[in-house]
Amino acid sequence: MEILHTVKETRELVRAWRINGERIGLVPTMGFLHEGHFSLMRRAKRENDRVVTSIFVNPIQFGPKEDFASYPRDMEADSAACRHEAVDLIFAPTVEEMYPVGFCSYIDMDKITAGLCGKSRPGHFRGVCTVVAKLFNIVTPDKAYFGQKDAQQVAVIQRMTRDLSMGLEIVSCPTVRESDGLAKSSRNAYLSAEERKAALAVSRAVFKGEKLVKEKGERDAGRLIAAMRETLAAEPLAKVDYIEVVGAESMEKVDRIDGSTLVALAVFIGKTRLLDNFVCHTA
Ligand code: PAJ
Repeated sequence: MEILHTVKETRELVRAWRINGERIGLVPTMGFLHEGHFSLMRRAKRENDRVVTSIFVNPIQFGPKEDFASYPRDMEADSAACRHEAVDLIFAPTVEEMYPVGFCSYIDMDKITAGLCGKSRPGHFRGVCTVVAKLFNIVTPDKAYFGQKDAQQVAVIQRMTRDLSMGLEIVSCPTVRESDGLAKSSRNAYLSAEERKAALAVSRAVFKGEKLVKEKGERDAGRLIAAMRETLAAEPLAKVDYIEVVGAESMEKVDRIDGSTLVALAVFIGKTRLLDNFVCHTA
């Protein structure tokens, strides 16, 4: 496994693979890797000849009051884990390598980034899209892998790839959970023991919502949101940022669950903001 820190070296290695006719899968991450990330790498390994993982805590997708400085980092453990997952290359650039002096080009999207996390975190998706577009240009993957845990992120990247004719396939992979239900996240490392217990209210709300729609036939967004809020209200450490019902591709609010619908929520447990969601496909 190679670990490269520069764009130039990465391009050279990837070009050699391409000349050999090898298919390349990319898994973009911010490191502090867990089973969620590994599931993406395994899928990429199955579907490609080479797997590239990027590890880069991208400053431009964090707001000024957000956790860029304190975001957990552990390059040593991450490289050991990538080696174990048979990753071929870790691309781990510095901030200066990605954003050299004078950098001033960004990818801005509207509509699809207006709600949900885009609303709570202004500028977040501008940062995500810009870094992901750069990674696509550097690595030139055939396929790139993203987690459904960050549902709006996958939808935004799918849209960007189509809108800008980037010509690669975006693969969305299911959310990996802890055995008690909590969606895996690098940010779970912030939770105290008490908060870790409280965080279960988030997945509990998701499972309750999913049951209401899939087993009880609930189709009214307002009633569904109210039921999920009730579960979260029972947990004193939980503060709902949003719970929304939106079209699974457009990310636009809907009143009724009809067709492919995303039910997404963001919840603060203490200072830690956690995401979770489920998708339903109704006739
Ligand atoms: P990060 O939070 O490190 O996540 C990297 C990828 O892993 C994302 O596609 C995310 O959706 C996926 N992932 C995280 N937790 C998961 C889980 N429990 N189950 C399945 N997949 C999971 O998302 C980012 O980094 C950044 O925004 C990035 C795309 C790398 C751009 O900087």
